[in-house]
Amino acid sequence: MSEHSISVTVNGTQHELTVEPRTLLVSALRDELGYTGANVGCETGRCGACTVRENGETIKSCTRLAVQADGAEIETVEGLADDGDLSALQERFQEHHGLQCGYCTPGMLMSADTFLRENDDPSREEIREAIEGNLCRCTGYQNIVDAIEATADQLGEQR
Ligand code: FES
Ligand code: FES
Repeated sequence: MSEHSISVTVNGTQHELTVEPRTLLVSALRDELGYTGANVGCETGRCGACTVRENGETIKSCTRLAVQADGAEIETVEGLADDGDLSALQERFQEHHGLQCGYCTPGMLMSADTFLRENDDPSREEIREAIEGNLCRCTGYQNIVDAIEATADQLGEQR
């Protein structure tokens, strides 16, 4: 099968790689580049476990071919922590028990982080809408919403 050379920037680091036309972005991130934070759940765009940011917008990386991301800026959950220090959102997830098995967590964090960039004072309903594309089979969502709300409150106090 023919292969394509692509260039993607992931969490600020540029990578050149060769992929088959059928390679999914999530597979290229995990298997070729070692960014294993994005998880593969359904591979059909439903669960959100593979959520990353592409050029500032959240996408489900199982619905993108790697070749479509040529030239893109990708951000994964690995980019949220700053030199090992968890982000405020990650800390609040920990504090409010916003995860159990953790499988949904990377995607959940990326959706919530993107949402909070644009919504500094969200209602709980808005938070629930923001994560409606991310399924969690463990937590019942309550603690996740608590964690995101607490992050918004903290960021609001810092402004
Ligand atoms: S693995 Fe991508 S949405 Fe489920
Ligand atoms: S913590 Fe297990 S799926 Fe969400």
